[in-house]
Amino acid sequence: MRLLGKVAIVTGAGRGIGAAIAKRFAEEGAKVVVSDIIEQGAEVVEEIRKVGGDVEFFRTDVSESNQVQNLINYTVERFGALHVICNNAGINVPGKIENITEEVWDRTMDVNVKSMYLTTKFGIPELRISGGGSIINLGSVNSLVAEPMLSAYVASKGAILMLTKAIALDYAKENIRANCICPGWVNTTINDSHANLMGGIENVLNSIDDFQPIGRVIRTEEIANVALFLASDESSAMTGSAVVVDGAMTAK
Ligand SMILES: NC(=O)c1ccc[n+]([C@@H]2O[C@H](COP(=O)([O-])OP(=O)(O)OC[C@H]3O[C@@H](n4cnc5c(N)ncnc54)[C@H](O)[C@@H]3O)[C@@H](O)[C@H]2O)c1
Repeated sequence: MRLLGKVAIVTGAGRGIGAAIAKRFAEEGAKVVVSDIIEQGAEVVEEIRKVGGDVEFFRTDVSESNQVQNLINYTVERFGALHVICNNAGINVPGKIENITEEVWDRTMDVNVKSMYLTTKFGIPELRISGGGSIINLGSVNSLVAEPMLSAYVASKGAILMLTKAIALDYAKENIRANCICPGWVNTTINDSHANLMGGIENVLNSIDDFQPIGRVIRTEEIANVALFLASDESSAMTGSAVVVDGAMTAK
């Protein structure tokens, strides 16, 4: 029960990595608000409740200021406090700069980066009331290295890492920590169009040794375990860090 007494929000938790993080947090005693723009979040909540978790679903588009404020208000009204914000929602629309529309560029920055500005801006006063807290931002290996055909996504993920560091500096004295998880290839929906670019998912899996030296995809639970550590007091001196979970992808 490493998160007993803590209240957490996980954005984009209707599926994939976010759903795994919400489950892991709840298993360890946290009260969790599963937030997503898709209704599937309600199914994740049902699954967690079946094993005794104290969770709620709150539908939110994280790029919308009033919706994020409502998410924070709802969490505090329902569970009485806020200790952990896991900013996991994200999108990836591949393309070179010339082929990316302004709409795609703006939407990528709004969902991936502005969302973190909003949850942090509205969440910090509640973390302060709790005597501190942990903000966990989902970056990517693309927070550290670029890849062809992913310019908007790469730019957004680079911004997330530096935003995380800036938040860590500004709130270090208040026991409010901010860290960034940088995963390698995890098999989730966000990668569908990226996989198509790479010749299809079968091709990605057959060639995974070439780019992810552990020779397999990373499981969502393996990211959730790192999020759990960063959410818990076990990581109390960690803030402003990039925690790379990439099976040695960026070690070369
Ligand atoms: N899968 C990978 O290989 C990988 C690698 C590095 C980083 N990541 C990051 O992990 C995070 C989770 O992605 P995933 O792999 O689980 O993919 P996913 O597509 O399964 O999950 C992303 C979730 O974000 C939600 N979302 C999208 N737009 C939203 C919005 N406007 N408001 C609220 N929710 C919204 C989606 O509905 C979805 O549930 C993302 O930030 C992604 O960039 C994933």
